Amino acid sequence: MQHAMGVALVGCGYVADYYASTIPNHPQLKAVGVYDRNAVRAADFSRHHGIPAFASMADLLADESVRIVVNLTNPRSHADVTRSALEAGRHVYSEKPLALSVAEARELVELAESRGLTLGAGPCSLLGETAQTVWRALRDGVVGRPRLVYAELDDGAIHQMPYWTWTSESGAPWPYLDEFRVGPALEHAAYYLNWLTAFFGPATEVTSFSALVVPGKVPGVTGSDFAPDFTTATLRFTSGAIARLTCSTLAPEDRALRIVGDDGVLRVAECWDYGAGVTLQTLVPDEQRESSDHYLEPPVPFPLVRPADYRHRYKKSPEQDLHDMDFARGVAEVADAVIERRAARVSARQALHVLEIILAMTECGTTKIESTFEPVTPMPWAALPA
Ligand SMILES: NC(=O)c1ccc[n+]([C@@H]2O[C@H](COP(=O)([O-])OP(=O)(O)OC[C@H]3O[C@@H](n4cnc5c(N)ncnc54)[C@H](O)[C@@H]3O)[C@@H](O)[C@H]2O)c1
Repeated sequence: MQHAMGVALVGCGYVADYYASTIPNHPQLKAVGVYDRNAVRAADFSRHHGIPAFASMADLLADESVRIVVNLTNPRSHADVTRSALEAGRHVYSEKPLALSVAEARELVELAESRGLTLGAGPCSLLGETAQTVWRALRDGVVGRPRLVYAELDDGAIHQMPYWTWTSESGAPWPYLDEFRVGPALEHAAYYLNWLTAFFGPATEVTSFSALVVPGKVPGVTGSDFAPDFTTATLRFTSGAIARLTCSTLAPEDRALRIVGDDGVLRVAECWDYGAGVTLQTLVPDEQRESSDHYLEPPVPFPLVRPADYRHRYKKSPEQDLHDMDFARGVAEVADAVIERRAARVSARQALHVLEIILAMTECGTTKIESTFEPVTPMPWAALPA
């Protein structure tokens, strides 16, 4: 077995605990250091996880043991941090979004390509057991030709929750002002867009409606610079499938997916759990269809292609659902791609395409999508038998 690849985390905020706690799931990764421009945060995080802290980004990039930089900074810092790591010859895995504009994201993708470096981007839930199971079922034709998708990414009415009290395990406060300024589309839409663009090919057209429905989320803050808190969009994919995707921080928590095909319906209840169950409804045989409300069989569990066996259990608060995601799996995919000299499944070209869709989603109207990406390959353990 090869030596583990040295990984440095840049940004020791709320999400960083999820990475530190899932890196041990992947023997090809070794956390060699962390850095945050907030020195107190870096020190607290370093102490909590027992990973040394670098004093500066320059020190981090001067350390030869750092092969992959994991960019966990706030979205507005993503492009600068990724660019400096690539310029220093490091592979990068970036949290979503890759950048805040398509032009900036394209510049990063081209920089990585020109230097022969791997740039991967989150979210990596497409590599999860649930997504791989749904994808395999689609390739296997269990619902026939997929026609229509309904995807929900509602996070609950956050402004009615005690969001200012939420802290990560190592003590980072949940960055609510940043979250409200970036908005649920840029924060969350990629969780399903990565799946859908992998399943159905690049999107060609987006028709959307977006609005900031509740600007007064934070006492004493006007919210005039907050992003839309409600976005709904209909997308057309290369395969011909149509999807309606809704993101909000208003409606009660719902992260369900339904894929409607000619021969049945696949359903996932939760995309923030890599091992969430999948159900299948097939058509009632023609001769038994008695009425319009009895054309589908009751849902039955559709077995995962393999058990979701990884270490990560996290609960934001006693009231909130378990978010069970193996965050470091995307970093491990970058390491494997580098070792095996192949393209990473968490491809930056796909992330650029998804960013173009999301920016179109936050406008009102119809937008043609220009970017495309090479098809992603399923995980080997989810391949169909030859
Ligand atoms: N909060 C979540 O639950 C969550 C979940 C999944 C993904 N994410 C994503 O993770 C990323 C980080 O989110 P977060 O919630 O951890 O934010 P955060 O504000 O809690 O943490 C970001 C950290 O990055 C540091 N930072 C910013 N710019 C920097 C720079 N140039 N150099 C060094 N450090 C810098 C900040 O000081 C801060 O400590 C975002 O892209 C977000 O979309 C967040």
